[in-house]
Amino acid sequence: MFFAVCAIALLCWMSAVSHSAPPACEDLVRPLDQLDPHHLEGKWALVAGSLSHPPHLEKFKKRDSASVNFSTNDTYISYTRSIRLDNKCQYNTYNISLEGSSFSYDGTDKSNFSANLVHTTCQDCLLMRFNVESGKRLHFYLFSRRRELEQSEVEEFRAQVECLKIPPPVVMDPTKELCPEETAGDPAAKTEEKTEGQKD
Ligand SMILES: *[C@@H]1O[C@H](CO)[C@@H](O)[C@H](O)[C@H]1NC(C)=O
Ligand SMILES: *[C@@H]1O[C@H](CO)[C@@H](O)[C@H](O)[C@H]1NC(C)=O
Ligand SMILES: *[C@@H]1O[C@H](CO)[C@@H](O)[C@H](O)[C@H]1NC(C)=O
Ligand SMILES: *[C@@H]1O[C@H](CO)[C@@H](O)[C@H](O)[C@H]1NC(C)=O
Repeated sequence: MFFAVCAIALLCWMSAVSHSAPPACEDLVRPLDQLDPHHLEGKWALVAGSLSHPPHLEKFKKRDSASVNFSTNDTYISYTRSIRLDNKCQYNTYNISLEGSSFSYDGTDKSNFSANLVHTTCQDCLLMRFNVESGKRLHFYLFSRRRELEQSEVEEFRAQVECLKIPPPVVMDPTKELCPEETAGDPAAKTEEKTEGQKD
């Protein structure tokens, strides 16, 4: 009798918990299921990010701002990443292929470096997960058309970061200027670093 009551109480408790529980991690960090490449087009500001490895995270914190600008046509997708650091802008351009919501980088072994878009409830955001060194390192970046997000949107990102078991996110300072569009014929503004792990 005592056992039966306990079992029923436990069942009730379990169903109460599952109803009130926040979204499960598998749901929070699920890949974006569909993507219209044209949605990517244009400029996105980095609003927050987290990286699995502390030394990379420390380097990341030194950035004043960062943005990506995607261009697409019927055949190709490319993007230029700009990072403002110590009042200088660095630009790198990458050609990518899209498979569903995953990116592979032209000329790079897909198993070493890839990225995919992750679902987010933020409408004008782009949430990118980079899998570096065959997935040993994880970089997770939230971009938006806006420079600053609502508190609830930042909270969702924090929960996603927690699910991935990486350090708490660094939120970018929205008052720091983004890099201007890269101007052709300004070699001083361009860096040619194209080593592995520099894509993100
Ligand atoms: C698409 O973009 C690529 C790379 O920028 C370019 O070489 C190609 O001509 C473009 N194709 C069309 C159909 O515009
Ligand atoms: C991207 O692809 C275009 C067209 O094939 C090519 O001209 C350009 O050099 C490529 N850029 C990079 C960074 O690989
Ligand atoms: C990918 O990783 C393998 C083994 O770690 C290495 O041999 C290969 O050169 C790497 N490829 C690229 C494109 O970095
Ligand atoms: C983004 O890149 C495209 C193609 O290179 C360029 O035409 C456009 O002006 C850029 N936009 C911004 C905001 O930098």
